[in-house]
Amino acid sequence: MKKKYVIAFDQGTTSTRAIIFDVKGNIVAISQKELKQHYPKSGWVEHDANEIYADQLAAFKNVMKDSGISPEEVAAIGITNQRETTVVWDRKTGEPIHNAIVWLDKRTTDICDDIKAKGLEDYIRENTGLVVDSYFSGTKLKWILDNVEGAQEKAEAGDLLFGTIDSWLIYKFTGNHLTDHTNVSRTMIYNIKDLTWDETMLKALNIPKSLLPKVQASSSDFGSVEYKGHKIPIYGVAGDQQASLFGQGGFKSGIAKNTYGTGCFMLLNTGKKHVVSKNGLLTTLTASLNKDEVKYALEGSIFVGGASIQWLRDQLKVIKKASETEAICNSIPPLQDLYVVPAFAGLGAPYWDANAKGAVYGLTLDSGREELIKATVEALAYQTRDVIDAMMEDSGKQMTTLKVDGGACANNYLMQFQSDILNVEVDRPKMLEVTALGAAFLAGIKQGIWSLEDIESVREAERIFKPEMKSKQRKQKYKGWLKAVDRTRSTKT
Ligand code: G3P
Repeated sequence: MKKKYVIAFDQGTTSTRAIIFDVKGNIVAISQKELKQHYPKSGWVEHDANEIYADQLAAFKNVMKDSGISPEEVAAIGITNQRETTVVWDRKTGEPIHNAIVWLDKRTTDICDDIKAKGLEDYIRENTGLVVDSYFSGTKLKWILDNVEGAQEKAEAGDLLFGTIDSWLIYKFTGNHLTDHTNVSRTMIYNIKDLTWDETMLKALNIPKSLLPKVQASSSDFGSVEYKGHKIPIYGVAGDQQASLFGQGGFKSGIAKNTYGTGCFMLLNTGKKHVVSKNGLLTTLTASLNKDEVKYALEGSIFVGGASIQWLRDQLKVIKKASETEAICNSIPPLQDLYVVPAFAGLGAPYWDANAKGAVYGLTLDSGREELIKATVEALAYQTRDVIDAMMEDSGKQMTTLKVDGGACANNYLMQFQSDILNVEVDRPKMLEVTALGAAFLAGIKQGIWSLEDIESVREAERIFKPEMKSKQRKQKYKGWLKAVDRTRSTKT
């Protein structure tokens, strides 16, 4: 039977999905499950790793059942995942020894302070591409080894395994202990120059090597998923932000994308050039097609993007659905000096201030529900501008177009405002599931059903937003934002 489909497993922070694509990159069927969030203490965020696997398996089975597609018609599976989230499990039983510690979790701030005190900041930036922050997996792994009874001893005896979510899912589906370049570049214990686990960092965090997965190219053979007596190969694996860069055609140097998901993640492919940021950006590995040949990207990670719209809905209860925000933003005149700085999980790039808290500035007696909603939406665009300015400075490149994806980019007001605040065109593709498509592409390339040229031809712009705002207004608005951020910071550099 002809292989006509590729499946993407898309395991995100808030949901787990399986999506079937046909060979033209069209979506044939989707199955999705919301993922339960656990907040055991203020600033802590956990997921149940067993639930993640059970949801992924259920989503896969459901999408197969609903679509009526037979397993022989599926060419390959690509996995894309929330990055940095850390799982440690028992080598013999396969049982996690602790809940997964999610990328947003801040419990390891003290470990980060110790690392800074050891003077490792510059080393980490140059060799792992990262800044010292609880965001990354290394300190989360150390926390589990230090805090779960007997874990360090077990790890030293070779009885435990570590993985990010890709690695955990590969292990559960295939029994192999593997990961890919994109995910490993978010751990703070991997050397992105030498493409090896970093001995200095492993020593600094007291992490035994026996815990670590083998690292492969993103488009390579990770083993097979059994389904109704058939073996479907996992041929693609990439962290969600690198997968979406790939899906947007960003495998070429100079291409940038911004995803408006739980957070906002902007990546600029810098090619073979390993740019070390002077402006608080990260250097990360892009999805790779070869084991020894990698390309780099500069990344600006904003912790709270779409999550601030969820905050309007779930905490303030001023909207029922995120989709209401567009009409509300359009229903009132431009804001006068009102800013929401959504530092609910500290400030990420380019500020990296773990202790900053969210704030609203410029309230007057006529500021009401609509104004607060509009200022929250606009904050996504301002935060993106902060990151782009840093990117331009680091890379010396000028941006003319920003490719966008993710849930919040469906908001036309936001996209127009984004274009206005950046003074660049914002290009929204027809198919917004670019992250899942990127993972499917990686798998399909290995299987030989797509080439890089095919991928470029699949992407089509749905709408291009052009800047309309007057330069004076843009300057004034952005100046107000910078002032608001400055007041929000807990430490000034
Ligand atoms: O670095 C975290 C990122 O990978 C999470 O993405 O889409 O699950 O919010 P998302």
